[in-house]
Amino acid sequence: MELKGKHVVLGVTGGIAAYKAAELVRLLVKQGAEVQVAMTEGASHFVTATTFQALSGRPVFTDQWDARMPNAMAHIDLSRQADLILVAPASADFLARIAHGLADDLLTTMVLARDCPLLVAPAMNRQMWENPATRRNAAQLLADGVGLLGPASGEQACGEVGAGRMLEPEEILDEVLTFFTPKVLAGKKLLLTAGPTFEAIDPVRGITNLSSGRMGYALARAARQAGAEVTLVSGPVALPTPAGVERIDVRSALDMQAAVMARAGEADIFIAVAAVADYRVAKAAEHKLKKDLGGVPPIELVENPDILAGVAALKNGPFCVGFAAESQNLEAYAQAKRRKKNIPLIVGNLIQDGFGGDDNRLVLVDDDGVHPLAPASKSTLARQLIEHIANLTGGN
Ligand code: PMT
Repeated sequence: MELKGKHVVLGVTGGIAAYKAAELVRLLVKQGAEVQVAMTEGASHFVTATTFQALSGRPVFTDQWDARMPNAMAHIDLSRQADLILVAPASADFLARIAHGLADDLLTTMVLARDCPLLVAPAMNRQMWENPATRRNAAQLLADGVGLLGPASGEQACGEVGAGRMLEPEEILDEVLTFFTPKVLAGKKLLLTAGPTFEAIDPVRGITNLSSGRMGYALARAARQAGAEVTLVSGPVALPTPAGVERIDVRSALDMQAAVMARAGEADIFIAVAAVADYRVAKAAEHKLKKDLGGVPPIELVENPDILAGVAALKNGPFCVGFAAESQNLEAYAQAKRRKKNIPLIVGNLIQDGFGGDDNRLVLVDDDGVHPLAPASKSTLARQLIEHIANLTGGN
């Protein structure tokens, strides 16, 4: 419920992407936002007001002369209730009209009369997006302080391929969350590791673990939303890169160490979320091991370097945060790891809570003692941890 108490006016204009606005309403409402939909006449050719009414739980407004507004000033009343006006999809025609200050229907009038920020997610055919007139209008809107979300590139409803697709509803939600998140890490460079490592035995086999990367990716996203410049060094996972985050893919602990050490000197904060293999195979076989060679192949293991301890030992290095996944004695083991690695903050989680799923239960251990967080989704916990780190590092 990251948007609890936030009032969002969602403007929907005429375009095939209007059907995706229904999913966007659902996602915003799920995050606790109060969503008021205002549609243009064009949008109602693609989706009905009933769909939006059912999903938002509020009547939808299309007409500036709507008799439901007692003072006949829908454009003022609706925009005054809003913390944000978001228009998705925003057609080329809509961009042109608001770039020129036209106010010839409810949505454009509301935009002109607003006293809150405006974000627009353009959606149109690629030629329309590339047209100099649209580029001029988009540049004018940016200069006027309007936030442009996308557009993305890809296959379009008309069958052509190029820039002009509306961002996906999840991506737009991400931008809205970023908009509302206090920028407690503004100006900070944050480096983090996530996921498992994979230590090769031969070209097709290896030693790895069940880390999904979810906790680390949620932290990368929360840190970026809090204004940090984020670099994510990721072991092999099947997750999309959070918007605005630089991602470096690695496989083994040695690869991860090299990627981290190349960047740690620049970082203000380092968070080691990865489940790094403690050992690697001393010499991975060049060719696939054959079963019929007789006997079980011996696999000699050697210890991997401790990446976190290496960063913590740097002179003038970043503020270091470690994670500890334990199956028992969580606090005591987390304390011991904090001391051993000489880091100011360690985050303990029980193995059964942390690995793989969407939820987790964290215990933060720092100089001030032990701070248990209530069980929650990894994204909620990530936001709380980022706030805690911002407090410890003197963030805004
Ligand atoms: O990816 P998910 O499925 O969401 O799961 C998240 C998680 C459970 C993997 C994560 O929350 C977590 O707890 N990660 C740390 C796992 C662990 O216990 O690691 P460790 O005890 O081996 O290491 C302690 C700390 O040192 C960790 O911060 C680790 O990243 C770091 N480390 C460990 C070994 C090593 N060679 N280099 C390291 O940097």
